[in-house]
Amino acid sequence: MQSEFSIFPQKASTIAESVDLLYYFLSVVTVFFTVLIFSLVFYFALRYRRRSPADRPRPIEGSNRLEAIWSIVPLLLTMVMFGWGAALYFANSRPPDNAIDIYVVGKQWMWKLQHTEGRREINELHVPVGVPVRLIMTSEDVIHSFFVPAFRIKHDVVPGRYTTQWFQATKAGRYHLFCAEYCGTKHSGMIGSVVVMEVSEYVDWLGGGATGESMASQGERLFQQLGCSGCHRPDAHGRGPVLEGVFNSPVRLESGETVIADEAYLRESILNPRAKVVVGFRPIMPTFAGQVSEEALLQLIAYIKTLARPERTPVSQTPERQAPAAKGRTRTER
Ligand code: CUA
Repeated sequence: MQSEFSIFPQKASTIAESVDLLYYFLSVVTVFFTVLIFSLVFYFALRYRRRSPADRPRPIEGSNRLEAIWSIVPLLLTMVMFGWGAALYFANSRPPDNAIDIYVVGKQWMWKLQHTEGRREINELHVPVGVPVRLIMTSEDVIHSFFVPAFRIKHDVVPGRYTTQWFQATKAGRYHLFCAEYCGTKHSGMIGSVVVMEVSEYVDWLGGGATGESMASQGERLFQQLGCSGCHRPDAHGRGPVLEGVFNSPVRLESGETVIADEAYLRESILNPRAKVVVGFRPIMPTFAGQVSEEALLQLIAYIKTLARPERTPVSQTPERQAPAAKGRTRTER
């Protein structure tokens, strides 16, 4: 199943082919120059060997033409590598708009995952085939790296912030999941698998969770328990900004800046509320740092994402506050 050894991993995502093409190019260039240089070393060693104790070779003055060639050719080659790599990176860095979100928390030494529908798993990630999946990832302790060779994706998972990466699986099956950043004694054991299923199977699988409670409703419960609702509901008399419709929309700050209320902004505002105070509000919100786990934070964010914009805009969220919308921008991505 996963045990067979091969130089290249299976290709099981939409980007795998294009990543491999670049890799083949790098390999061909590398092998070509390695062979060329080694051959020349041997050839010159023989050709210009010392033939007798009295051997006095003709001095070599150098050649500008030769120097120009061995400077310009490698320059062009490395610029091709740079341009190609950068183009691929940009093409693959932004997930499609219809991507589903799955939340990842790394910790020494396991991967904890939660689907928005509520189902959780450890060291196993079930995903549907043919559907783009965006991973929103963070770490409870040190830096990890979420690496799925068959999808040709790898991205650092960093404590204190969210990083994202995405993939679209093309073949059902089970694929290796690794941690690719040395993270302590059991780093090598921080492994698992990604199970790619047909969409209908995936839907069945999602329904098989123990609780059946979605991330958003888990988040809503936390929202009540932590007292967030006391200030952030439309009927809270403007003590805190209303959160309906806030996700992915621009927010004006006391500092005059405008930020997009993405996952990172929501996270910061829960843990360090004074960092970016919304215009018209006082910095009275207490910090929740140390009171909510990474998983609870993700559930709160999942809940806030589901809060739709109300029909009538409440006073605390007047339209002109949202006016300087970055046009056409719906999502902020790293
Ligand atoms: Cu986590 Cu290495």
